[in-house]
Amino acid sequence: MKMISPSLLSADFGNLQRDIEMLNQSQCDWLHVDVMDGIFVPNISFGQPVVKHIKKHARKPLDVHLMIMDPGRYVADFRDAGADILTVHYEACTHLDRTLHAIKDAGMKCGVVLNPHTPVMLLEDSVQICDVVLLMSVNPGFGGQKFIENTVNKVRQLRDLCQRKNPDCLIEVDGGVNTTNAPLLFDAGADVLVAGNAVFKSENPQQTIIDLKR
Ligand code: DX5
Ligand code: ZN
Repeated sequence: MKMISPSLLSADFGNLQRDIEMLNQSQCDWLHVDVMDGIFVPNISFGQPVVKHIKKHARKPLDVHLMIMDPGRYVADFRDAGADILTVHYEACTHLDRTLHAIKDAGMKCGVVLNPHTPVMLLEDSVQICDVVLLMSVNPGFGGQKFIENTVNKVRQLRDLCQRKNPDCLIEVDGGVNTTNAPLLFDAGADVLVAGNAVFKSENPQQTIIDLKR
């Protein structure tokens, strides 16, 4: 599968509705929504009220990436705000299994996110329950950073793990994705690529989404 989830972190926050409508008309598959708390990551982005407004205009599933400590506290809030897919960081959860089940029980697709320093093998006992695993290809917190090349190897490792334990699990990659590394990531086994700057800083975002899928 080749799917693109543009990151709204790089959109024009003063014209969010306009940018969402542009994405509704595009070939993108999901909308990636980055929630940051200023503790788990150095940056603060936005919370549930903004997600609710995004949901009002979006015609594609909301792929909500929680970069917050103890995300289990907010599962119901983000379900109510309109998240379709909710991903939480391995590094931010003491009771990851409980949190993943809570997300599923709330009716959303669930996923784990791994920071660049976190090995894929740590998912051995949680990938079974995941609908998606998201590999960070930058240190989370900001858009526009440089892609960490080792992510391509991690995608291959994760593909092998999924083949053994959960072949339906989608592999997603987030950070520094562009038209140069996208084919490498899809070839290695990625299913969904997040792209912020590559889409929004491009002269023709809709064409860039098509190019990323090639
Ligand atoms: C980074 C966020 C990413 C970011 C990607 O912490 O999780 O989703 O918006 O932006 P680019 O594609 O510009 O690296
Ligand atoms: Zn993200």
